[in-house]
Amino acid sequence: MTRSPHTKSTVERLDDKVLAAKVAEFHQDHFQHLSTLNEIAEELGIQVPTGGDMKQILTTGKVALADLFGDSAILKAMKTNEDDTVLAYERASQNEHARPESTEFFLKAHQDEVRHRTWFETTAKQL
Ligand SMILES: [Fe+2]
Repeated sequence: MTRSPHTKSTVERLDDKVLAAKVAEFHQDHFQHLSTLNEIAEELGIQVPTGGDMKQILTTGKVALADLFGDSAILKAMKTNEDDTVLAYERASQNEHARPESTEFFLKAHQDEVRHRTWFETTAKQL
C-alpha cells in the first residue's frame, strides 16, 4: 500500500517507543485478521475493496488530530477505533449464517480486539 509522505502512522506519532512497539504488535494482529477476512470473502465470492476508503481516512484523521495533544490523546483516539472493531467482530461471531471455521475466527479476532482496547484504555489513563 502506498502512503503519502505527509501521512504518519500511529507508530511514528507516538513519542514513547515502548508504546509504539506495542501498537506495532497490534498492527500485526490486524494484518493476520485481514488475511483471514480476505480468505473468507474469497470463499464467499465477495469483491474485497482495496486502497483507502472513507472509514480509513476518518480513523487516520482522528489519530492525526490527537497527535497535537500527545501520546495519551493518541491512545484514546486509537481506543475508539478498537471500539469499532470489537463491535464488528462481536456481530460477525453472532451471525448464524457463517461457517463454523469463520465463527471460530471471528471469536478469536474479537478477543484480540478486546485485548487491544483494554490496553489502549488502561495505558492512556496511566500517562
Ligand atoms: Fe485492534
